[in-house]
Amino acid sequence: MTARAPQTIVSGARPTGQLHLGNYHGAIKSWVRLQREHRCLFFVADWHALTTDWAASADISRNTIEMVLDWLAIGLDPERCVIFQQSAVKAHAELYLLLGMLVPVPWLERNPTYKEQQQQLEGRDLSTFGFLGYPVLQAADVLIYKATAVPVGIDQAPHIELSREIARRFNGTYRDIFPEPQTLLTETPKIVGTDGRKMSKSYGNAVFLTEDPAEIDKKLSRMVTDPRRARRTDPGDPNDCPAYQSFHRTYCTDEELRWAAEGCRTAGIGCLECKKVMIKHVLEELAPIRARRTKLKPADAEAVLAAGNEKARAIAETTMAEVRSAMGLG
Ligand code: TRP
Ligand code: SF4
Repeated sequence: MTARAPQTIVSGARPTGQLHLGNYHGAIKSWVRLQREHRCLFFVADWHALTTDWAASADISRNTIEMVLDWLAIGLDPERCVIFQQSAVKAHAELYLLLGMLVPVPWLERNPTYKEQQQQLEGRDLSTFGFLGYPVLQAADVLIYKATAVPVGIDQAPHIELSREIARRFNGTYRDIFPEPQTLLTETPKIVGTDGRKMSKSYGNAVFLTEDPAEIDKKLSRMVTDPRRARRTDPGDPNDCPAYQSFHRTYCTDEELRWAAEGCRTAGIGCLECKKVMIKHVLEELAPIRARRTKLKPADAEAVLAAGNEKARAIAETTMAEVRSAMGLG
């Protein structure tokens, strides 16, 4: 992911609560980097959480606070970026409504994630207006700050494409207000869960950032490896080992990788011995994050959000004044 000249960068994440290593190696790490060189706004997409979880919304505010505390512990710095909560900036909803006037419904229906998610998240009623309109809200989220770049994972790329199309249509119809935001693809995390599937809170295979080190050690010590290594004397292949492919490759030095691969193929080392080397690095990386996290209290997240909401509101209001006037509203 590269961005040369200073950009206005906007991105959001649904309030999932405690972050895990998959979240960390996906978006958030890149946010921490971007805040050093660009004008950045990062927000908790709590309204977006409702588009799929409208019936199960009890945890949204607790998860919002938990997630912001993890953001701060990882190094998002309220001095360098604006950290805010989507639902606290009502202008997003106004822009969402106005953009909705000019977005053709077929643009939304042909969105690949729309049908996909409807199938994947079965058991929830996603035939709602809110879920169909999800990408319009997302477009409002970024356009309202005149974002020039949006860091997202590949799954969100179609939504940013749609934001560009919406910006183009708006600019063409009224006047040139919105830059067309480019997509900054964040690396897909190579980190998988302890069972080898995608790391996800709901799969119960996640390693959380601020979990107790002994617990992390235990989880990773039990992580699945090449099934051929059922016994210590059976040789294996690191290419077929989820632990090696995701964790060793992310955390180990070249020398350690060679040692692990060689020891694996010759049955010279056991899986636990092999994983302990990687676990040491994971714990080292997480120690300072954990230390910062234990010092933070919910009130700290609330204060950061209150200040960020204020800043975001001011910027959003300025854009909305232009939008209203361009559209002939007062
Ligand atoms: N849809 C994003 C997700 O599910 C979250 C999101 C909402 C977002 N608004 C955004 C991301 C604007 C980037 C920009 O992860
Ligand atoms: Fe994986 Fe290492 Fe075990 Fe080989 S020895 S299967 S690389 S954990």
